[in-house]
Amino acid sequence: MSTVVLIGAQWGDEGKGKVTDFLAEKAQMVVRYQGGNNAGHTVVVDDREFKLHLIPSGILYENKVCIIGNGTVIDPKVLLEELKSLRDRGVNTDNLRISSKAHVIMPYHQRIDAADEESKGNQKIGTTGRGIGPAYMDKSARVGVRMADLVDDEEFPKVLESALAQKNRLLTEYYGVEGFDYKELLQEYQGYAQELRGYVEDVSVLVSGTIEEGRNVLFEGAQGTMLDLDHGTYPFVTSSHPVAASACLGTGIGPTKIDKVIGVAKAYITRVGEGPFPTELFDETGKFIRKQGHEFGTTTGRPRRCGWFDAVVARYSARINGLDYLSITKLDVLSGMDTIKICTGYKYKGEVMNEFPESRKALAACEPIYEEYPGWKEDISAVRKYEDLPDTTKRYLERLGEVSGVPVGIIGIGPKRSQTIIMEKLY
Ligand code: IMP
Repeated sequence: MSTVVLIGAQWGDEGKGKVTDFLAEKAQMVVRYQGGNNAGHTVVVDDREFKLHLIPSGILYENKVCIIGNGTVIDPKVLLEELKSLRDRGVNTDNLRISSKAHVIMPYHQRIDAADEESKGNQKIGTTGRGIGPAYMDKSARVGVRMADLVDDEEFPKVLESALAQKNRLLTEYYGVEGFDYKELLQEYQGYAQELRGYVEDVSVLVSGTIEEGRNVLFEGAQGTMLDLDHGTYPFVTSSHPVAASACLGTGIGPTKIDKVIGVAKAYITRVGEGPFPTELFDETGKFIRKQGHEFGTTTGRPRRCGWFDAVVARYSARINGLDYLSITKLDVLSGMDTIKICTGYKYKGEVMNEFPESRKALAACEPIYEEYPGWKEDISAVRKYEDLPDTTKRYLERLGEVSGVPVGIIGIGPKRSQTIIMEKLY
């Protein structure tokens, strides 16, 4: 048996969807354990593109059990839309299971998200506006609505009534925006509950049982390490824990059950939203990467900020997540460049800093230290064996592995399942 946790090693959008989809083939179960529909995973199967926000990409295979764990936050309306769009395209969604302990994103969470961003002015986080932060705030404040409450016709009216009374006061009196009508909301969400009830159960039992049976389980992280609430570039982070440890907490299994952790990193780096980004490129090279890599958000359509591969971030990610391998994605995007840079450390107050700084003040003052490598002009998207890559590409990859301190186990050279080179045993 083998359990693999796949996480984003940068600021999200590393191309995890494709790698998950690829690894899902050998797994019996695929599990989402944190975040919500702020994520956007694009998967291309037989030239058909699927954009998934909440449902694990394992759903695109027949007979894989797909789990949405207790560590996630679920917008029922969005989930139902996603289910419908999959069914409309012939995908069977019967194998989805949702944790009864997952928290529900209510429309007041989105309104609070928007009002809060607005009130912050130039201090805003640049959230996806999906209500993620406010939903996790309610979870921590112990006033959230869980899936178990939503699907319980006796419990939900009571839970909603007390939550809404508080939220309406917050919206109208503090933020000065409109509140919600209890009866309308109750009716709308009872409708969603009706459709989702059949999917809701205790997923900890399911996941543990599958592991005990000796089957392969893939845990699919959303966002990335640098967006983690504890370990990311706080406060410019999401409100969940995209790191590997959260696979246990977010599904209800123990740490001894995890066999392998794979970190997904682009051959360069991107970030959406506000916050520090030491290797960001503001010049033509940044524009080139954005254009070649189609670097626009799957969820919000926002242009992504682009920069050189940052090995300080990669080493940090390796430490925080206990990475076994790196999966380098979108290597083909760099084809055509004369030279490529790798950031190997930061310069801070005249000294070389090899570890990612803890304080936001220090990070703001850091300057990247670069190594420069020759690029390659060849189109590498049709290459299927490592040996067939141009020498300059191999040299770049080898150096990425060396400076990150983690071997490169998977290489992505295009969006399709087939455009993947496997270097290491994955399960
Ligand atoms: P939130 O998760 O919507 O609260 O947004 C908080 C921060 O995380 C913002 O900078 C978002 O742009 C970023 N973020 C959230 N989800 C993703 C993602 O899936 N990919 C990349 N960035 C994300």
